[in-house]
Amino acid sequence: MNIILLLIFQIHCFFARTKGCFTMSESQETVSTLSNMARNLAPKLSDEKHKGQAGRIGVFGGSVEFTGAPYFSSIAALRVGADLSYVFTIKDAATVIKSYSPELMVLPYLDDTNVIEKITPWVDRLHVALLGPGMGRAQHTKEVFEKIITLCRSKKKPLLIDADGLFFIAQNPDIIKDYPAPVILTPNKMEFIRIVGEENSDLSKAEKAKHFLERTGSNITIFCKDAVDEVITSHGSIKLLSGGGSGRRCGGQGDMLGGAMSVFLTWALEKNVEPIVACYAASKLTRDCNYEAFKKHGRSMVVTDMIQEIHKVFDENFEQKSC
Ligand SMILES: *[C@@H]1O[C@H](CO)[C@@H](O)[C@H](O)[C@H]1NC(C)=O
Repeated sequence: MNIILLLIFQIHCFFARTKGCFTMSESQETVSTLSNMARNLAPKLSDEKHKGQAGRIGVFGGSVEFTGAPYFSSIAALRVGADLSYVFTIKDAATVIKSYSPELMVLPYLDDTNVIEKITPWVDRLHVALLGPGMGRAQHTKEVFEKIITLCRSKKKPLLIDADGLFFIAQNPDIIKDYPAPVILTPNKMEFIRIVGEENSDLSKAEKAKHFLERTGSNITIFCKDAVDEVITSHGSIKLLSGGGSGRRCGGQGDMLGGAMSVFLTWALEKNVEPIVACYAASKLTRDCNYEAFKKHGRSMVVTDMIQEIHKVFDENFEQKSC
């Protein structure tokens, strides 16, 4: 009797640990369309392209307390295929982040008195700005955060806002009101409640997000990180992937997702493809990297192990195969 129960339990665990799979719902068809579109996002590799064409990503974040988060975002962006990945951070965090990797360009400008003057020439060259990883929540950081958004707005730069950036957005959603380019917000459960309010209500996520989206405008996409990822826009919501991995959530996984999504968003916009395809692609990549890394490392998996799996997962799902 016990053996049968154990067997059933193991079969259940086996299925629970499959790769990021589609949720069984009416949106299944939509998700398989997204999967096909995601397959065509990456630019073909070619000798004729110059450096920078596959994406220049800027990650704005880091603080004395948190140096890992912007590093994971920015190294994930490079590993997914961005040509250049910049980290904009404060002086005391810059040396630390530089020491993690010579691949990244780390610019120590965020606590400079002339921060906007310093970053403007760099921001001009970015395809997507990712704001928030490890930024901290200090009041003076909020002021810098809002100045950066104002600068990006004047240059119509697409944005991705995560982590502490969402903490600031919750306090002042108007800063992204009628933003002139796509913006993706990537809240987890807590951050979602913080930005939309309505903590104690039975409404669906999409309904809860409705007022927020009415206030901020049509260029905002909310990507909700949860057991089942969900994308919400002013046009409605789509449930994306569930499963994918191990149940082991390691620190930095959200930062990796944000970095990957910035690159997919760059490619999507280049091809006039909806930002939700970039959301799908980043979700799929992160879930499958979790699955692959867990197979090798089990419970001791850390986000660096997931980043090591990007090549394999990317190759299976997003590489442009020439035939
Ligand atoms: C939304 O972004 C597009 C560019 O992607 C822009 O043309 C449009 O004006 C923006 N909408 C608003 C309300 O600014």
